[in-house]
Amino acid sequence: HLLPDLVEPPQLAGKTAVVIDVLRATTTVVHALANGAREVLPFLNVDDARAKAKLIGAGVLLGGERGGLRIEGFQLGNSPAEYSEQVVGGKTVIFTTTNGTRAMQRCKLAKRVLLASFVNLSAVCRELADESEIDIVCAGTDGHVTREDTLLAGAIVDDLSRLTGLEFKTNDQADIAADAWRSAVGDLTGTSPLGQALRASRGGRNLIDIGHENDIDLAAQIDQFDLVAELDLTSWRITAK
Ligand code: MLT
Repeated sequence: HLLPDLVEPPQLAGKTAVVIDVLRATTTVVHALANGAREVLPFLNVDDARAKAKLIGAGVLLGGERGGLRIEGFQLGNSPAEYSEQVVGGKTVIFTTTNGTRAMQRCKLAKRVLLASFVNLSAVCRELADESEIDIVCAGTDGHVTREDTLLAGAIVDDLSRLTGLEFKTNDQADIAADAWRSAVGDLTGTSPLGQALRASRGGRNLIDIGHENDIDLAAQIDQFDLVAELDLTSWRITAK
């Protein structure tokens, strides 16, 4: 699903969903967990996030963005680099972003929800290899399809077809994503072909505009972490597997 609105929550019932917001929410969550955050609690709106932080009290950090920038009173923004071991180790991160946490919400009726990024691509694909039905849900940006999320969705489709060695049925959106991925990695040359493709994407251009170009390179580190991030749908907590 190239956008969350292209899937209705009941369609995901009993299925495994994979949420993608590669620039930057899902990349940032994977960084947080890889650097020892105890859990990440996603919230749709800022007031609820603040209220939860107040309720929990000690050991909690507020992270996320609006308009790409850190929210007033929050300790962290949405840059993966901010979520270092020294900062997030052992902590609960309460997290709200514009599109990423909405895409997670869309998957609330699924059987399982994983979070994918390029930095944990192979770990996610290995975890998915035994699943019979998979719904990849791209966050997009404000209702628009984005190249960066489409590329990662395509990379997952491509990897899964190689991992399982099986023919599986895909919808047209999955085929479009896989074509985009194959043509991007095939056409680009240089030291960071994925970084170049992400720079040219909608999310990449936005990050350059607000002075966060470095986050694009961090998001392009394929398989930096061997970690699966899973959203528990009962407790609404994201933890590392
Ligand atoms: C979002 O959830 O809309 C994004 O993660 C925005 C951003 O890159 O900060």
